[in-house]
Amino acid sequence: MCGIVGYVGKKQSAEIIRDGLCRLEYRGYDSAGIAAVSGGVIDVRRSVGKLHLLTELLKTKPLAGTTGIGHTRWATHGKPSEENAHPHTDCSGKIVVVHNGIIENYQELKKSLSDAGHRFKSETDTEVIAHLVEKEYHGDLLAAVKSALKQVRGAYALGIICADEPFRIIAARQDAPLIVGVGDGENFIASDVPALLPYTRSMIFLMEGDFVDLTPTAVTVYDRSGAVVKRVPETITWNAVQAEKGGYKHFMLKEIFEQPQTIQDTFRGRLYPDDGEICLDGVQFNAQLISSLSKIYIVACGTSYHAGLVGKFLFENLAGIPTEVDIASEFRYRDPVLDETCLTIVISQSGETADTLAALRLAKQRKSPVLGICNAVGSTVSREADHVLYTHCGPEIGVASTKAFTGQLTAIYLLALDLANRRKRIDKSVFKQLLTEFWKVPLGIQEILKKSDDIEALAKEYFHNKDFLFLGRNLNYPIALEGALKLKEISYIHAEGYAAGEMKHGPIALIDENMPIMVIATQGKVYDKIVSNIEEAKARGGTIIAIATEGDTAIKTKSRHQIYVPPVNELFSPILNVIPLQLFAYYVAVSLGCDVDQPRNLAKSVTVE
Ligand code: AGP
Repeated sequence: MCGIVGYVGKKQSAEIIRDGLCRLEYRGYDSAGIAAVSGGVIDVRRSVGKLHLLTELLKTKPLAGTTGIGHTRWATHGKPSEENAHPHTDCSGKIVVVHNGIIENYQELKKSLSDAGHRFKSETDTEVIAHLVEKEYHGDLLAAVKSALKQVRGAYALGIICADEPFRIIAARQDAPLIVGVGDGENFIASDVPALLPYTRSMIFLMEGDFVDLTPTAVTVYDRSGAVVKRVPETITWNAVQAEKGGYKHFMLKEIFEQPQTIQDTFRGRLYPDDGEICLDGVQFNAQLISSLSKIYIVACGTSYHAGLVGKFLFENLAGIPTEVDIASEFRYRDPVLDETCLTIVISQSGETADTLAALRLAKQRKSPVLGICNAVGSTVSREADHVLYTHCGPEIGVASTKAFTGQLTAIYLLALDLANRRKRIDKSVFKQLLTEFWKVPLGIQEILKKSDDIEALAKEYFHNKDFLFLGRNLNYPIALEGALKLKEISYIHAEGYAAGEMKHGPIALIDENMPIMVIATQGKVYDKIVSNIEEAKARGGTIIAIATEGDTAIKTKSRHQIYVPPVNELFSPILNVIPLQLFAYYVAVSLGCDVDQPRNLAKSVTVE
């Protein structure tokens, strides 16, 4: 995720901002920059790559001025480059902006501004804001920003300065975090707490829709209606390490709890339930490909492979397209039958996994169009694929993938629903109903996250066990596989995911009273079948922990423990059902004292064969 830092006060701003950006490095970035006001002029320094390059640049070309804003960029629109690095300026160079978020309607705004004579220098959505404010500026920066943001759709945390108002920062937040640091004769803005801890522990967490007008001696907050509101500063007691994790004990737990937001971020600009529309930026399938598509190959590794397995159900059941899913390291050596009528989808959080890249290149050699589903903008997969569908999860620090997985599922659902609609496989009213149900999935996840204490208690009851079985059927079979992978990779406990109907063909021999069995038994067309499988396992002494649908009381007689999830259209159940499994794995690993964020033997991105 991008990082923002701003300073207005008595001291030179550049070093304070640079130091603050360094404290936000954990958020991940690919470029950085700082702007400062001095003598009625704003000067900007930007660099691609790590912050030490910006530090070197500032040594050779210092920035003067006691008011400034800075940014570390996690690219969403436009490749990592100096031109695309923030801060961005308007035509005059007098108005400068840093931004975290996504402006959904930036193309239409950019066109109308260009038509009006504005000259753009970058590929970013952010630059549009600088020119909008320029258009609306008539001597009052706050009024100009308010007018400009009325024209903007999307998510933003913004810091804006103006050469003609050298002791002022205007900031605003909508669906992206932003805080105000309150100092003595100086004030700050930042994306997150760690940036400001050395300077102040008195911080205001801005609310959705807030604007803030900062001078060295005053902080004035306005709500979305424009009324002045009182936002009481909180005193932060965290140390720097705790602050990087947002107060969570591990990045993995923070990322599990970020999922309602990261799914909404992946919806943003793409899912319009009220209009019954899906708009997939970066996926330019022409009508000929859509109609002539004979097969889809999905290729990935690990957790991304499990997302692909869910995709198989969706592409076949919704879009009616035969689909095969391959582990990348197998795909590349099995000489698959591929041609221009096959779509190859590679799924990779990092976009750098060696086996997945090799599979992408094999598909391209055989003329199969390739779509990459990626979280890292500018990664090798995103550059070499013919089409890219980005998940907007921000950097995933924990080695065990959680928010990236549900982000991948979200992207796959969007693609499958879009293909089904464009191939006229589902009625418009059904399509609109599905989009409406999909839109509510983050709310369901929030309900599950509220039960984390119960799941922690369950984990404490079973963390000594040496073997676990995870069972699921149909759409939730891949979720059983994912639950097993989560547990084994961070707690080092042996765990197997299995198709529940397959248990009788071998694994049932493993079952005894020492084998906890996690069964995904939410309501759906195979519910009765899964209950039969539960009976079979119980009869062998297995201890059943059921993931069940709220209101299902019958399951209590079949299982020793239940983790309830909100009712949802079975089609979307995988996204909800994985959440308790992520939490269970996390709390078991914590109970065992494992290094949850950096498990032994594992790397976040496997860039070698
Ligand atoms: C997930 O928890 C694992 N860390 C691992 O299986 C990962 O999903 C796999 O290495 C693929 O990584 P990628 O998505 O970056 O290609």
